[in-house]
Amino acid sequence: MTGVVIDGKAVAARVREEVKADCISFQEQYGFAPKLIVIQVGDFGPSTIYVRNKKKACENVGIESEIWHLPDTITQEMLLEKIDQCNTDDQISGVLVQLPLPDHLDAVACRNAIDPKKDVDGFHPINTGKMIAGEESLLPCTPAGIIRLLDEYNIQTDGAHCVVVGRSHIVGKPMAALMLERNATVTVCHSHTKDLAQYTKQADILISAVGQANMITAEYVKPGAVVIDVAMNRDEQGKLCGDIKYDEVSQIASAITPVPGGVGPMTVAMLMYNCLLAARRNR
Ligand code: GUN
Repeated sequence: MTGVVIDGKAVAARVREEVKADCISFQEQYGFAPKLIVIQVGDFGPSTIYVRNKKKACENVGIESEIWHLPDTITQEMLLEKIDQCNTDDQISGVLVQLPLPDHLDAVACRNAIDPKKDVDGFHPINTGKMIAGEESLLPCTPAGIIRLLDEYNIQTDGAHCVVVGRSHIVGKPMAALMLERNATVTVCHSHTKDLAQYTKQADILISAVGQANMITAEYVKPGAVVIDVAMNRDEQGKLCGDIKYDEVSQIASAITPVPGGVGPMTVAMLMYNCLLAARRNR
C-alpha cells in the first residue's frame, strides 16, 4: 500500500488565492492594503531566505510589506522601540520578529511587546491563552496550516488518537491544543519521553516536529496512520528531508506529507491568512 501524498504546495496555493481575492475586497472597502512588517536583526543566513520568501508571498497576494533589516549591534531598547512603532501605526496590520535573534537580545520580551492584535506569528501569550481557552485569536501559522491540510484531505480528527512529537512553543504545544479543540485524544512526546515508539505506534495521526533527519522509521508507525512531517532537515548527503523516513513510512501510512512540499509551504500561506485576518479585525 502506498499512502496518499498530501500536497502542501497545492493547498498553500489555494489559501494564497483566497487571501488574494479577499485582499482585493479589503482594498476596495478601506482604500488601502493590509501591511506586514518583518523585523530581521543581523544576517543569519536561513532567516534572510525566510524573510525574502515572506515578502515575496506578500507581493503575490497583494499585502504590502516592509523588511526592517536592523544591525546585530541594535540594543534591546531600540528594538522594542521599533516594535512599538509598528504597534501604534494604524496602517500596519501585522508585525513579526524573525527568529532566532542574536544572543544579546531577549526574544521573549520582543514577542511579548508585540500588540497581540498584530501578532501574525501567533506567539504572544495572550494569543496562546485565547487559543487554549477556545477564543478568537491569531493562531501560530504552522499548526494552523496542518489543521487546514487535514481538513482539505477530509482527515477525521474527532476521536482520533493524535501523537505530537516535539513540544516547542511554535509547533508542538499549539499543535496539541488545536488537535484537542478538534476532539482528538492527544499525546505529546518529547526528548525526555521513554520508549517513543510505544506511543507513536498508537497514533492514528502522527505529527513530528523534532528536527532529526529520518528518525521516525516504519517501526514507529501504525499501518494506516496519517503522518505529518513538520521538520526540515538535511541528511548526510546534504539532501532536504524531514523527521520521517519517507521511503518506508509512505508504504504503510494512509496519508503522508513529503519534505519538501508538505507542511513547509503552508506556514507562509497561513501567515498571509493571518495578516489579512488581523487587518480585518483591526478595522
Ligand atoms: N524562525 C523560524 N520560523 C519562524 C516563524 O515561524 N516565525 C518567526 N518569527 N521566526 C521564525
